Amino acid sequence: MSSSILIFKKDPIVSLQGQPVLLFNQQHETLLEALEFKKIKIFSECRSGYCGACKTRVLSGKVNYLTPPLASLEADECLPCCCVPETNLNLDLSPDGVQVVTRPPHLLQKTLLLD
Ligand code: FES
Repeated sequence: MSSSILIFKKDPIVSLQGQPVLLFNQQHETLLEALEFKKIKIFSECRSGYCGACKTRVLSGKVNYLTPPLASLEADECLPCCCVPETNLNLDLSPDGVQVVTRPPHLLQKTLLLD
């Protein structure tokens, strides 16, 4: 009899200067799209990895590139337009003005009662 092990991979959490702002799931093709969806201010031009306009410093975590980046990068930088988070990410972007959805306390209480 063989035993199987199920491994569930958690979606990476993307934080800005230590503040968690989004869970990266398959809803967005790139990190840039996910950041824009959350109204995070980030420059972009080519959106395909060659101009370097979206260059962002990574404070911690790793990304995977969908296409090899053509803009030159330092070891602690990424191009959100052509990558996705591989692990939880902490980016050196300002969390100011980010629209983070939180559950209102009265809904949280109902959820707790149903559980
Ligand atoms: S927008 Fe040009 S490299 Fe990302």
